[in-house]
Amino acid sequence: MRLSVIGTGYVGLVTAACFADMGHEVVGADRDAERIRLLEAGRSPIYEPGLDDLIARGTRAGRLRFATETADAVRDSDIVFITVGTPSRAAGDADVTDVATVADAIASALPDYRLIVEKSTVPVRTGERIREQIQLLTQGAVPFDVACNPEFTREGSAIHDFMHPDRIVLGVSNERSERLLRELYAPFDCPVLVTDLATAELIKHASNAFLATKISFINAVAAICERVGADVRQVADGMGYDRRIGRAFLDAGVGYGGSCFPKDVAAFIQIAREAGYEFRLLEEVARVNEGQREALIRQLREALWVLGGRTITVLGLSFKPNTDDVRESPAITIIERLRREGAVVRACDPVAEANARRVLPDVAYCPDPYEAARGSDALVLLTEWEEFRALDLARLRGLMRRPVLVDGRNALDPRAARAAGFRYAGVGR
Ligand SMILES: NC(=O)c1ccc[n+]([C@@H]2O[C@H](COP(=O)([O-])OP(=O)(O)OC[C@H]3O[C@@H](n4cnc5c(N)ncnc54)[C@H](O)[C@@H]3O)[C@@H](O)[C@H]2O)c1
Repeated sequence: MRLSVIGTGYVGLVTAACFADMGHEVVGADRDAERIRLLEAGRSPIYEPGLDDLIARGTRAGRLRFATETADAVRDSDIVFITVGTPSRAAGDADVTDVATVADAIASALPDYRLIVEKSTVPVRTGERIREQIQLLTQGAVPFDVACNPEFTREGSAIHDFMHPDRIVLGVSNERSERLLRELYAPFDCPVLVTDLATAELIKHASNAFLATKISFINAVAAICERVGADVRQVADGMGYDRRIGRAFLDAGVGYGGSCFPKDVAAFIQIAREAGYEFRLLEEVARVNEGQREALIRQLREALWVLGGRTITVLGLSFKPNTDDVRESPAITIIERLRREGAVVRACDPVAEANARRVLPDVAYCPDPYEAARGSDALVLLTEWEEFRALDLARLRGLMRRPVLVDGRNALDPRAARAAGFRYAGVGR
């Protein structure tokens, strides 16, 4: 099929590259000309394992190309995916300006029938709004449909997730849209759930809000564990064997971050409010999450007495391993906080340094974790990269001024850390 993907960020690029790899003809469009220049030169603007190869293969095969004009992409496709960002506004609701801009651009470029599919995470009824606005602009001159196909991939394993989804959700308003999307997704071996548009839009927000709730739930349990001397990891294991609960997303730590959970939880609270329901459960989920960062600062202060003038080494900047995405990363908030307290911060991350530099230009970055730890008063692990789990703790300890280790992800073995001479603090253990 001929497809276009408007917005070549984390979701759009993976969508474009994976569909091209499956044999479709795909155009990826983005208003960011520098991004398109990089892509045309065969380079990925983001770090996502396996994405470079997929882009190169698609481009070489002539099935994947890039454009700066939405009109250009819409002309050459049967299905148009919208994958632009929907960031939080100050009140927490989703800013859908980019989605609206793309809808306008699509309207003015429609040559004949197109199926327009929102893949961005959008407030319920956005599909309806897109349809209304395109209808207003085109005055019925060109047929089109709007559908919703929410994306559930995780950064860091997005290509695998895209190719092997747990389910595919198709929010459609008629049979023609359903037929086209079923044809596109026919090779996938997973349940396909066909719903109306509003239901599909809600499935995405409800899913992310539920996952965030699991994380905040276990973090609340961790707070109790700390007070009574229990181990939250074992509590989570004991809960997780219950198939009704499952072990995933029950890792206590410094809290969730990234470009999705914080904004989607905030947006869902607003969506509920507009619908006349106060989603207090989710408000508490967000509050618990914020509290985790504060708890870590308290642990550091407890170990170091004061933070001003102390040198603190932060291991991990991305919001989770295997991505360079630092949006809403707990590491960024914690570093900002430490610096406000007068601490000297040194930081290390295998791939996220360049993105972190844009938001925190004045931090001392060291590519080598041992160099980063040299002479510091405390080590704080904030992203559980595999290479950090494998660190030689005794060697690290030997390089530091004070043997303080705060493990914000429960990624290290407390016994090994203590045996290496560290004063170790994890979360809920
Ligand atoms: N990041 C994820 O893992 C993930 C997973 C599932 C769903 N989502 C959702 O998908 C959407 C996109 O997320 P993302 O992380 O890929 O965002 P992103 O910020 O990485 O990418 C968005 C891209 O859209 C481009 N863009 C914005 N306005 C445009 C316009 N008018 N015309 C053309 N291009 C335009 C931007 O330049 C940018 O490159 C969001 O709604 C997000 O919530 C993200």
